[in-house]
Amino acid sequence: MKIIGTGSALPKKVVTNDMLTEFFDTSDEWIRTRTGIETRRILSDESLYDLAIAASKRALEASGLKAEDLDYILCSNVNNNYVYPSMSCIVQGAIGASCPCFDIRIACAGFVYAMDIADSFLKTGRARRILVLAAEEPTRFCNWKQRETSVLFGDGAAAAIVEDSDGYLGARTTTVSNTEVLYQRNRLEPTPFEEEGIYVDHPMVMNGREVFRMAVSSCSKEISSLLEDTGHKVSDVKYFLLHQANLRIIKGIEQYLGGTPEQYPTTVQKYGNTSSASIPILLDELVRANKIDRGDLLVMSGFGSGFTTGSLLMKY
Ligand code: ACO
Repeated sequence: MKIIGTGSALPKKVVTNDMLTEFFDTSDEWIRTRTGIETRRILSDESLYDLAIAASKRALEASGLKAEDLDYILCSNVNNNYVYPSMSCIVQGAIGASCPCFDIRIACAGFVYAMDIADSFLKTGRARRILVLAAEEPTRFCNWKQRETSVLFGDGAAAAIVEDSDGYLGARTTTVSNTEVLYQRNRLEPTPFEEEGIYVDHPMVMNGREVFRMAVSSCSKEISSLLEDTGHKVSDVKYFLLHQANLRIIKGIEQYLGGTPEQYPTTVQKYGNTSSASIPILLDELVRANKIDRGDLLVMSGFGSGFTTGSLLMKY
């Protein structure tokens, strides 16, 4: 697998920590010191579909391909206005592609899992060029009457176009069923055959401390094992592109693995936690700033609800 083009798109509206003090008993100081977040982008007069389509078109343009050259579209998305059709179907039509497509819904580690699946499609000859997209609007999962989760998130979308090559060096994916630490419930239509209210919808519930602990420990161990399995050292890796949930989580993983702060680039300060879109947004920013050269080794590592973690080592 080789990345031949990237693209991203963020909402126009910039929301500062101070702006959030209008709605909650919180402060810029609390949010910065606990999370590193200074601003986030939140959807207002555009939709997540707009972002997903724009990010995909930018990635296509960067790759030099046309939509009809794509053999598959994989999209990581937790939630959007449609339960079905999938987000990837909506994007496929809007960009003018005609290939098969599907969504994966495993929260923040989704882009890494999608890249891993894309590599196996390429290796088995099922596809030659794949659009791997992540599009998320986690600000709409939060209860905006509570400060605990609403301050953490931002919306965004980003994509990478991959084709067959020798860039995939290995991946590790882990799922530990622990549904209580981080979940959200959808509303389901009641039928006449069950007790009323058996399936109650609920905005995001998160045990922040537990998620923090699991994130640092599982990502650190998974990345260590991945490097060991593939015969690489931390110093071989140009960048660790970690899920941008919290600066303190990123620092915790950096402390465990070692290396230099430059190897752990961040965007969480300006975009907040954009769920599975955070890794490809960061990737796209580094690519467009010419900070990644062909042959550089990248680790992408995400964690999220499940509890799932996924880490991928690849040569750019
Ligand atoms: N503003 C001000 N005070 C707040 C806020 C807020 N926004 N939120 C909570 N507090 C208060 C709490 O009520 C508590 O008050 P108390 O001591 O009087 O009871 C106090 O701050 C401390 O709360 P803690 O939860 O102990 O704070 P902590 O240091 O653990 O930080 C945080 C909370 C930032 C959520 C942290 O636990 C964290 O980042 N966890 C990981 C979260 C994460 O990454 N989630 C997403 C991962 S998966 C995905 O991306 C979907």
